[in-house]
Amino acid sequence: MIKSKEWDWSGNINEYWKNVAGEFIPLALQWKARDFKKVLDLGCGIGRNALYLAKLGFSVSAFDLSADGLSQLRQTAQTENVNIDLMLGDMLKLPYESGYFDCLLAFHSIYHTDFSGLTRILAEIYRVTRPGGEIFITLNSKEADAWNLYSQRRIDEYTLLKTEWAEVDVPHTYLDYKDIVNLLKDFQILKIQQIFDYEEDRRHAHFFVTASRV
Ligand SMILES: C[S@@+](CC[C@H](N)C(=O)[O-])C[C@H]1O[C@@H](n2cnc3c(N)ncnc32)[C@H](O)[C@@H]1O
Repeated sequence: MIKSKEWDWSGNINEYWKNVAGEFIPLALQWKARDFKKVLDLGCGIGRNALYLAKLGFSVSAFDLSADGLSQLRQTAQTENVNIDLMLGDMLKLPYESGYFDCLLAFHSIYHTDFSGLTRILAEIYRVTRPGGEIFITLNSKEADAWNLYSQRRIDEYTLLKTEWAEVDVPHTYLDYKDIVNLLKDFQILKIQQIFDYEEDRRHAHFFVTASRV
């Protein structure tokens, strides 16, 4: 399994990472209406989604491998007077009790590993989410331009190492639809969308997945 590597949050941070992920808002509101309380933001970064959830009244745990990301989140949480439980660590092994969370968000985070790492992380996600709970995760699609653009940086048939910006040498796993169905066989998949974003000359492609922990 490839060694984990955190994002470098010390440089200039694009506005994108400072505002809640809009695609997640409807589900967050549903979770709130269904009285889900305990939520884990896995790979929280500087915490745009954790902050949003805390302000909605969830009891939020935020987990990341980047001490710098967590320290920025601690400061923002203090300034904005919200309470978030922060934890530093590697998502390959989570420090939470089994069945602790009602729901779990992993936005653009759990694909920062290779295929066997992803398998292990999904087993941890399954373990820490209670039966009847729900998860929202995003995964990289092989239809993203990056999969071909960085082909010389591939380390296996699913994984490459990026070379740019906050992600130098950070692993990225790319999948297709069938891989996801297979990886999530212990969950009940509620929804899979493939989302394309166009940025200058580059096409990004992600799967957005909602699933129930049976
Ligand atoms: C693309 S950022 C997404 C941050 C956040 N989820 C958001 O949507 O703003 C990916 C985050 O995953 C974290 N990460 C990468 N590998 C990790 C690992 N093995 N364990 C915990 N966090 C990890 C990175 O440090 C980074 O903060």
